[in-house]
Amino acid sequence: MSFNILAIESSCDETSAAILDSGKVLSNVISSQYFHKEYGGIVPELASRAHVTTIEKITKEAFKLAGISINEINLAAASQGPGLIGSLLIGLNFAKGFAVSNNIPFVGIDHIESHLYSSFIGSEDIEFPFIALVVSGGHTILFLAESETRYKVLGTTQDDAAGEAFDKVAKMLGLEYPGGPLIDKLAKDGDSNFHKFPVSNIKGSPYDFSFSGIKTSVLYYLKKNFPAGVSGNDLNNISASFQKAVVSSLVSKTIKAAKDNDIKNISVSGGVSANSALRQEFRKYENEGYRVSFPDKIYSTDNAAMIGYTAYLKYRNSYTAIPAAALLEGAYARFKYNS
Ligand code: KG4
Ligand code: ZN
Repeated sequence: MSFNILAIESSCDETSAAILDSGKVLSNVISSQYFHKEYGGIVPELASRAHVTTIEKITKEAFKLAGISINEINLAAASQGPGLIGSLLIGLNFAKGFAVSNNIPFVGIDHIESHLYSSFIGSEDIEFPFIALVVSGGHTILFLAESETRYKVLGTTQDDAAGEAFDKVAKMLGLEYPGGPLIDKLAKDGDSNFHKFPVSNIKGSPYDFSFSGIKTSVLYYLKKNFPAGVSGNDLNNISASFQKAVVSSLVSKTIKAAKDNDIKNISVSGGVSANSALRQEFRKYENEGYRVSFPDKIYSTDNAAMIGYTAYLKYRNSYTAIPAAALLEGAYARFKYNS
């Protein structure tokens, strides 16, 4: 029997709607707000406005691609944070409105938790425990995932997230926002040993990250050596050298966490998990018996399929969802709806 989920993601600058049948993705439509490029970063008010104008169109497209109709949906889900509050509200209210008008339950999903599961989309069985590195534009968190309800945070960034460092350094290099994918591309033709950029370690906190120091060191390096701007091979080489330093910090701390906890399963997700050097570096550890799972690249950056998949995991385990009637009453009551 099918169990269809409509999932919405709108926490930042992607509007996305997905339809899943249990853990299987039937459609996943993503609209990225490229106009933020002009401003060198995300403008929250403009992001919210774009979600308002796009969400209905995107959802209709998701239904069309999935080949199912509105009355066949059993559960509505939306990203409930962390994220930009104005943006989140659009997706949350859209999904809640859908739930109310179709008399189906609604479940709010944690955006980070959904990234954590994105590398398992499509699979019915997830093997616990595993070490999970969630590395995106807003977060860099290392988890020990013990079960679907127990996550231990081993470490987190003390300043900038890794994706944020990619974006800020890209800006210094004269590249557009978001800079991560552009640095990744330029680095492919660069020498990663061209210059050694230092990455800070936090004394006494072996699993915590810090990326604000490397950002400053790139800034001073560029000021001193390329005051008129950087181009050509130098751009490739600096991109590769910066990327190598960030990747090495992410990989070494994750592997240390896996070794210290005697765990062989690792999941790496979030926007930066699309980075080719990061994937390559982690793959090297497969020779040592580690199993490293990455999301399909389309599920690395923000998407609604990961929201729907996490909603499915919650449903399957009889966790909380809000029934349509309670949504209408504005009640906060939550109960196990499939038990
Ligand atoms: O997960 P995500 O879409 O949004 C957040 O929840 O933050 O991640 C976006 C971040 C941006 O900082 C972007 O530059 C980075 O992911 N990113 C990459 C790559 N693709 C996206 N960073 C490095 N290499 C990539 N290929
Ligand atoms: Zn994200």
